[in-house]
Amino acid sequence: MVSFKGYEEIIKKTYGSGQDHVFRHWGELNETEKKQLLDDLSEIDFDALKALFSKKQSHAEINFGPAPYIHLPSDAAEERERDRAAEAGREHIEGGGTAAFMVAGGQGSRLGFEGPKGKFRIAPVSGKSLFQIHAEKVFKYSGKYGVEIPLLIMTSRANHEETGAFFAENSYFGLNPASVKIFPQNMMPSLDSAGKLILESNHGVFKNPDGHGGSLTALQTSGSLDYLEKKGVKTISYFQVDNPLAKIIDPVFIGYHILKGAEISSKAIRKAYPEEKVGVFVEFSNGSVGVVEYSDLPGEKTFMKKGGDLVYSSANIAIHLFDASFVKRLTTGGGVSLPFHVAKKKIRSYTECGYLEVDGLKYEKFVFDALPLTERNVVFETVREEEFAPVKNASGVDSVESARALMSSLFRKWLESRGIAVPRQVMEIEISPLLAVDPEDLPVPLKIDGREKVYLERS
Ligand code: UTP
Repeated sequence: MVSFKGYEEIIKKTYGSGQDHVFRHWGELNETEKKQLLDDLSEIDFDALKALFSKKQSHAEINFGPAPYIHLPSDAAEERERDRAAEAGREHIEGGGTAAFMVAGGQGSRLGFEGPKGKFRIAPVSGKSLFQIHAEKVFKYSGKYGVEIPLLIMTSRANHEETGAFFAENSYFGLNPASVKIFPQNMMPSLDSAGKLILESNHGVFKNPDGHGGSLTALQTSGSLDYLEKKGVKTISYFQVDNPLAKIIDPVFIGYHILKGAEISSKAIRKAYPEEKVGVFVEFSNGSVGVVEYSDLPGEKTFMKKGGDLVYSSANIAIHLFDASFVKRLTTGGGVSLPFHVAKKKIRSYTECGYLEVDGLKYEKFVFDALPLTERNVVFETVREEEFAPVKNASGVDSVESARALMSSLFRKWLESRGIAVPRQVMEIEISPLLAVDPEDLPVPLKIDGREKVYLERS
């Protein structure tokens, strides 16, 4: 058995759990590397990991129906109800009740971009990064509602420092640095197909970020919940870094959330076609609401129709509102009990023969698994083209090109809705968030030049 002063317990635990292969390169390590490996091991809950590996993945409960949701207004009465919600939401925002929360801890492996995904330059004309677009939106909303809206950013081990440095180099894109909180999420070890830890180097265990569901625990452990409480923030507006169209602060959505006293509210869009790879909102037999992933939705439910419409049609776009005190209740004490989901992935593993690709098991939590734990929630329908442009892949579906096209076409609509003529020659158009986060912010009259690419910035 290897030995190192002060680490006797963890060494014993590692051997006792049958994971002592991680010490295979011990003889090659210097004292610092030995300590790094042991510190890495100290963070692992071996018993929980063993239990996870032996657990049969239970498929989602099949006893469910479609979840009720607030649909887009179809008559004057429903329009008036929306106006009332907008009023309540505006009041809440102006009173300092809301913070923005961006999750940016993912690995962005499909995009294949080196560095934090938020640094990816997505804007169709200016080439602004995802981080800049989101930060500038928060800046604009703060001005619009006359209140400093805090921005929380969750990172992970691999991109935390680079994210912090990017914001600092860019002077936080005009935001007050004291109101921008950047904190990393937890990491979770992956296992090989025999349940063994995988080495990423001779002195490091391979770990992946613990999923966007890890964000609730990270809000607590980073001290962000206490920070928000001191500032009087009650509502956390959650969105993903890779959706440049996310309406980060939406008074109508916030209004419904507040009026209903919801613990979590979620935005939904209509599924584009039955097999679209999105999760759908459902109501389980015990009355709780949740999301069932497309891969878990049985075939007959995927295609089920009523009156010509898909029955399971409200799709999750990962925009939620969290009641801060609900998150606190969930995460204090024993921690959030969101389940881990397993995904099979090829992982680069350090072995005695150098680096090899092995079949690995990656464990992640999903944030929407908190939904069934609520007593009150809202599912709120919105328009796909106005709020959803995921940047997952370099090309094809949900890609850089599709997101740029969606941005351009939304901005064109904004201009047209304000009676601003867009000349035919204009192919790509971009509106800076500093100029407008909603069409109503656009200054009119406004003249657009007949160029191929148009960028509208604050003057
Ligand atoms: P995705 O899983 O869709 O994207 O995460 P990804 O991890 O960035 O990219 P792939 O899957 O490796 O290609 C959706 C959102 O959740 C965040 C991501 O940063 C993204 O905003 N996320 C995901 C986290 O913050 N932490 C995680 O552990 C996983």
